[in-house]
Amino acid sequence: MSEIRSLSALEILDSRGRPTLLATCQLAGGAVGRASVPSGASTGAAEALELRDGDRQRHDGLGCLKAVSNIKREINDAVSNRKFDAQADFDQYVIALDGSENKARLGANAILAVSLAFCRAQAAQRRLPLYAHLAQISGASPRLPLPMINLFSGGAHAGSQIAIQDVQIVLRAAQSISRALEITADVFRAAVKFMRDRYNMRLLTADEGGLAPPFASSEAMLEAAVEAIELAGYRPGIDVALTVDVAASQFYVDGRYQIDGASLDRERMISKLESWRGAYPIISLEDGLDEADWRGWKGLHKRLGANTMILGDDLLCTNPSRIARAIDASAANSLLLKVNQIGSLTEALAALRLARGAGWKVVVSARSGETEDDWLADLAVGWAGEYIKVGSITQSERLAKYNRLLYLEQMEDLSPGG
Ligand code: PGA
Ligand code: ZN
Repeated sequence: MSEIRSLSALEILDSRGRPTLLATCQLAGGAVGRASVPSGASTGAAEALELRDGDRQRHDGLGCLKAVSNIKREINDAVSNRKFDAQADFDQYVIALDGSENKARLGANAILAVSLAFCRAQAAQRRLPLYAHLAQISGASPRLPLPMINLFSGGAHAGSQIAIQDVQIVLRAAQSISRALEITADVFRAAVKFMRDRYNMRLLTADEGGLAPPFASSEAMLEAAVEAIELAGYRPGIDVALTVDVAASQFYVDGRYQIDGASLDRERMISKLESWRGAYPIISLEDGLDEADWRGWKGLHKRLGANTMILGDDLLCTNPSRIARAIDASAANSLLLKVNQIGSLTEALAALRLARGAGWKVVVSARSGETEDDWLADLAVGWAGEYIKVGSITQSERLAKYNRLLYLEQMEDLSPGG
């Protein structure tokens, strides 16, 4: 049981220099929790609403002062001096207070910020590391996730120099986080070297710190990733595999996929994905098709689902009803879990449980606009995600999460896979 003394919030900046929120929750017993929330760029249409001020005079309309004020006034007034048994009671109370379908009234950013701050305050009250508290909430045994680490970027994260958004590397076998980061650093260095030569350019990096040269095609991007793995001395597909976030909703126009200079219908797009899967060591395809192309997703899952993660991000939006639909339709086999797509820990946990019940794999994911907060690492560990997706190893808002995983691995004696 936790009684809330007060909630507070302020506007801070994220890794793109855009406003976001930091919330503080103080419990009557004195424990304090603080957390900040991330923000996406290639957002799904079904995401909960991130409340922005819309005042063009400040931050080009992206200010978060209304959300700050909703926490300091309405939410604080409603919850202070109130007792909550558990995370679910707190979240449900705030969600009911908002009362809207997609958190549009108080803002999903405000609601998630207080959800996380309350969680941290409860962990502090119970003198538990955040991951251990989250594990108790979820009922899972904590384990370290394998990181899917961004190497090359395109799409909405890199000015769309190429259609697909993310080529990532992932270890084939569950090894330590420190080994995964060491190998990634080797591959990244190799990629930097030959990108410089090949493109005769200063390095361009994207929102998540990935390299973003002007690749001639998706295949050139995938080929370069394989080359970087080899140059670093590892065996593609054996030591290190690829995962791809196609983010296809971003280039789906009037029912067709506009990619690599071609305009593909659903069937040809699925064939293209299948050809990549055959030619490169890809173990996971995220958002291979548009978020509303349910028929396509069914076909893709049928064709490639037996040996590839068909991973839903925009398709599912961490939304239990969309996940239930995807399970029913056999449209995917893996969930990308982004807590801010749904806007509270409790609903994100419901999403996770549904996915788990269907035997899906879970990838806990950051957003392209992040803060230096590291709660995501604890969430991935405490909720036992198989994978974590945070971006590259070159920017501190990403490294905050990787470094927290390193800390948990070494100081809490956790290991990948349990
Ligand atoms: P976003 O990108 O945070 O810009 O949505 C991440 C992703 O698509 O996985
Ligand atoms: Zn995605």
